[in-house]
Amino acid sequence: MEQTVRKQRILSGIQPSGTPTLGNYIGAMRNWKLLEDEYDCLYMIADLHAITVRQEPAKLRQQSIQLLALLLAIGLDPEKNVLFFQSHVPQHAQMNWLLNCYTYMGEMSRMTQFKDKSAKHADNINCGLFTYPVLMAGDILLYQANLVPVGVDQTQHLEICRDIAARVNGLYSGVFTIPEGYYPKVGARVMSLQEPTRKMSKSDADDSFISILDGPDTVRRKIRRAVTDSDGEIRFDPENKPGVSNLLSILSALTGETIDSLAESFADKGYGDLKSAVTDATIETLVPIQTSFNQYMADKAYLESVYRTGAERASRIAERTLAKLMKKIGFIAK
Ligand code: TRP
Repeated sequence: MEQTVRKQRILSGIQPSGTPTLGNYIGAMRNWKLLEDEYDCLYMIADLHAITVRQEPAKLRQQSIQLLALLLAIGLDPEKNVLFFQSHVPQHAQMNWLLNCYTYMGEMSRMTQFKDKSAKHADNINCGLFTYPVLMAGDILLYQANLVPVGVDQTQHLEICRDIAARVNGLYSGVFTIPEGYYPKVGARVMSLQEPTRKMSKSDADDSFISILDGPDTVRRKIRRAVTDSDGEIRFDPENKPGVSNLLSILSALTGETIDSLAESFADKGYGDLKSAVTDATIETLVPIQTSFNQYMADKAYLESVYRTGAERASRIAERTLAKLMKKIGFIAK
């Protein structure tokens, strides 16, 4: 007897604010390709989230379409994965309103990201910034996602999503699947090239991160300038030698060699040798992605067909959940 087992569903969102970094690629994006057969995956470009801080329209447009092309360029198959823009699926905004009414001011004001971002953008502490985790909760719950791949900076948001889901289920029973975090087994945390005790971030100074779209010369320059230390010894010791350790873990992530064996083979070499190995491995990884990215960017009609289909598929799933919750709340069905 044939039996179809429903695959577990994965949803993740990525903001179109700047180009993803080598750190985003190593820590998150490249793992997505490995999930596409085993799971039912949706990847959303979180453009609604992006406007919680001011965006320049032309830049937002450019970065959004580039991000879609990048998802394709890293190899995601748009048939197996649902790729879509959050703003194309109106159920996100609708769900956001509903969930706002089941979320407390107190829990939102405890969010560390809200505190950080409102300190950073003191001239624009808008309500969207405050309720951002509610929008994100809706993103996840609309699709009844089982698993959500997120970085550590998002675990608090995932927790609040679970709290909101449990609260709604407590009131109306059986509305939402309670999601869990998905943390890839392998995946190094890539640190800043300039301040290697901090995570590599696209919002830091330009020389401190490598963007997936950085060309070979830029990669060479940035890695040459990466901060190391003065003892000249190559070994893995993140606490005392964060710069060198970061270079070793990037090299390990890109080549698949263990950190131990790399440390051994570089033991009697200099920092220059290590940097040039990291440079070569980075360029070798990025060039094929960039070539593919350029091909997708040159084919606007194809990109359009991908995001239109993605939005239709996403919307069908989202509508089911939204209608179910609206009925339970007591709205008159359309
Ligand atoms: N808030 C996430 C970030 O900034 C992006 C995001 C939006 C997201 N909606 C999501 C991530 C849903 C996972 C699931 O990185």
